[in-house]
Amino acid sequence: MPRVLVLYYSRTGGTKKMAEAVAEGVKEAGVEVELKDKATPEELAGFDAIVIGTATYNHNMVRGLQSFLEEVALKGIDLKGKIGAAFGSYGWSGEGPRLALEVLKNKFEMDVLEPPLLIKYKPTAEGLKKCKEFGKKVAEKALKG
Ligand SMILES: Cc1cc2nc3c(=O)[nH]c(=O)nc-3n(C[C@H](O)[C@H](O)[C@H](O)COP(=O)(O)O)c2cc1C
Repeated sequence: MPRVLVLYYSRTGGTKKMAEAVAEGVKEAGVEVELKDKATPEELAGFDAIVIGTATYNHNMVRGLQSFLEEVALKGIDLKGKIGAAFGSYGWSGEGPRLALEVLKNKFEMDVLEPPLLIKYKPTAEGLKKCKEFGKKVAEKALKG
């Protein structure tokens, strides 16, 4: 049974709400999921799919995520071939999830789901539905292996 991690970085709760719905979508597809707002680099090794949630601040991902990804690289944690995906709440430009996905793809050589899911500010009911569907897509990819 594949294991999916939903790891999110949110300051005002928009990306957090998205993360909860993404995790729900994974679970509804019958796949084991953990929802976290912090993790150690070593923990990542225990998951088949890593879904990163990040808001966009100053045209970038949340700073805590940036330093976390640097730490993962520095420690040489091997994520090659694992499934990767990214999502996040944004206001106008939404670079955060795009940049995070690029790191997963090009630095860690993960098998990424493109494009990332972006939602403006707080997700509405329609937005939450999109998040659930996104989670389901990740779960289906993880089930295929
Ligand atoms: C200081 C500040 C800088 C921001 N910079 C950007 C930005 O460069 N691009 C963008 O799309 N949104 C930007 N935003 C909007 C946030 O991404 C938006 O409020 C989002 O919903 C925050 O997500 P969160 O609730 O998960 O923290 C900024 C917001 C603040 C307060």
